[in-house]
Amino acid sequence: MKAIVRVPTKITVFGEHAVVYGKPAIAVTIPRFILVTLTPRNDSKIEVHTHGVSARLSSIVLERDSNNVISQAEPADLQRIVNYIITALNLCEDLLKEEKKHGYNVEVRSELPPSIGLGTSAAVSVGVVAACFALHGEDPLKRRGDVAMTAWRTEYKVQGAASPMDTFTVTFGGLRYIEPKNFNAQEIVYRGDLPLVVGYTPRHGTTAELVAKVRSLRSRAPLILNKIMDLIGEVVEEARRTLEKRDLEELGLLMNVNHGLLSSLGVVNEVHDRIVHVLRRAGALGAKTSGAGGGGAFVALASSSEDSDRLAKLITGLEAVPVATQIWRRGFEVLEY
Ligand code: MEV
Repeated sequence: MKAIVRVPTKITVFGEHAVVYGKPAIAVTIPRFILVTLTPRNDSKIEVHTHGVSARLSSIVLERDSNNVISQAEPADLQRIVNYIITALNLCEDLLKEEKKHGYNVEVRSELPPSIGLGTSAAVSVGVVAACFALHGEDPLKRRGDVAMTAWRTEYKVQGAASPMDTFTVTFGGLRYIEPKNFNAQEIVYRGDLPLVVGYTPRHGTTAELVAKVRSLRSRAPLILNKIMDLIGEVVEEARRTLEKRDLEELGLLMNVNHGLLSSLGVVNEVHDRIVHVLRRAGALGAKTSGAGGGGAFVALASSSEDSDRLAKLITGLEAVPVATQIWRRGFEVLEY
């Protein structure tokens, strides 16, 4: 008996950081996936194998009760992901009122490296929670709200701060308008191609560190920083209307404005500033840092899908890795149970 869950990753199109302070945001899933396989064991050990999450194939075994590590391959690489996995399992079993006695083999396969702002930790949390639901006889697709909420609690507990944006977007999938205050992830209906170009560069700092950096800036100049957060919230509202009107030119302009506002929060690095300028000069309608910043993910808007392929080729010459030129319209899927 085992459960295999495939979870898409995501890109934040508008509103990162301000979403931590209750402002809305817009995010969309992309066709790059995390595969989580959860298999119950007869003992109380947790054995984690990861592929693609760190540089090499990695594994770790720990005793469920004590969290004592029995054997480990690359502790530094694995520590973060193991935190998400154990927390997700504990919260899932708490919710389902299960005794925490089960051991599991957990396999995580990722097409993307962690900590680049594309929601990989959210995807791992959602995958583990959904697989845990399935193994305990609950259909995770019928309980998507509970899966998203439990995965958000996982991120919140591990990171110390997290908006529901990433976990709710990868749970439900597609283009989502996130209202963090009431944990709502409403679908924005957008037919046809949304010609985005998604890429990443190496990132310095974790999401938790970058969120803490913005928090400290806000405590030093609350009046101004609160106005910037309000303004980001207004850009998001305008972007939602613009998406519904399918006005790509205006959407690009709003992306550029959002990039400038992220810059004022101190989370845009020099490499990203150069990339967004090159992309705009090469014909992108707009381009911005995406996610927590400090490098990591960025997103641009092309005028057509042919043009997004051209821009994706261009960014490989800018020391960036292209990730997607299309959006994905579904959330997590249970591939086997
Ligand atoms: C991280 O993908 C985006 C942030 O807004 C943090 C969050 O939403 O939890 C920086």
